[in-house]
Amino acid sequence: MDRHTESGWDRRSFLLTGVAAGAAAAAGGWALQGEALADGAEFGVPELPYAADALEPFIDKQTMEIHHGKHHAAYVANLNKALKDVPQLHGLSLGALLVDKAKEVPEAIRQGVVNNGGGHANHSLFWSVLTPKDKAKAAPEGKLAEAIQSAFGGVEKLAETINANGASRFGSGWTWLVKDKDGRLHAYSTANQDSPLMQKHVPLFGIDVWEHAYYLKYQNKRGDYLKAVWNIVNWAEVERRYNEDTLPHPGKEKDALKKKTEVKAP
Ligand SMILES: [Fe+2]
Repeated sequence: MDRHTESGWDRRSFLLTGVAAGAAAAAGGWALQGEALADGAEFGVPELPYAADALEPFIDKQTMEIHHGKHHAAYVANLNKALKDVPQLHGLSLGALLVDKAKEVPEAIRQGVVNNGGGHANHSLFWSVLTPKDKAKAAPEGKLAEAIQSAFGGVEKLAETINANGASRFGSGWTWLVKDKDGRLHAYSTANQDSPLMQKHVPLFGIDVWEHAYYLKYQNKRGDYLKAVWNIVNWAEVERRYNEDTLPHPGKEKDALKKKTEVKAP
């Protein structure tokens, strides 16, 4: 067995994308902490948590098949390829590669790791925060709903902000709702495959505004695509991500890193 195609979609699948990804994440450690993959494991493409046509008519089947099966798969393949000859980076999580250990990534492959590791992280999240319309909650509830009300003035305003950020993103990128280390919400866009993880923000929800995400159905009408996505938001997952304890725990990070070093020592 390899990768994590057996387990549906959980936090570990997004964060760490490895079958051995870890105990620390499951226990609620800081999302960016570097849990290891199993020795020899490579990053893998997660299965979609629904059928490729399940998001119709908002996102069409063909787009989903190409987006997931070709584009996402290419990011994963290229990430593994970039890391192939750099054994000191083997076993690191996406969080470690993009944040904690980013400076240790050799310059020759650094941008490739950002592009393809970010692409893997971003797309893994994207599939998880969407859901078929008949399964989607109409709106967030609880603490997330309160936080959105406080930060943006409600869900409709949030959607307007995220859509405006996505519409004005020149070229390719993403438009995000994120949580900072103090639990505050922010909305912004990023270029290319840059991940909010790179600025130590926890992505809660994001919309891919690369043309490959919408062009078959929407052609040049990125705004129509952005509006359509709000019909299929998996608010339960966004709430879960918001409510989860993902704040930094310096002591735990130190312990975990030490433990990992000890485990890996010959
Ligand atoms: Fe994409």
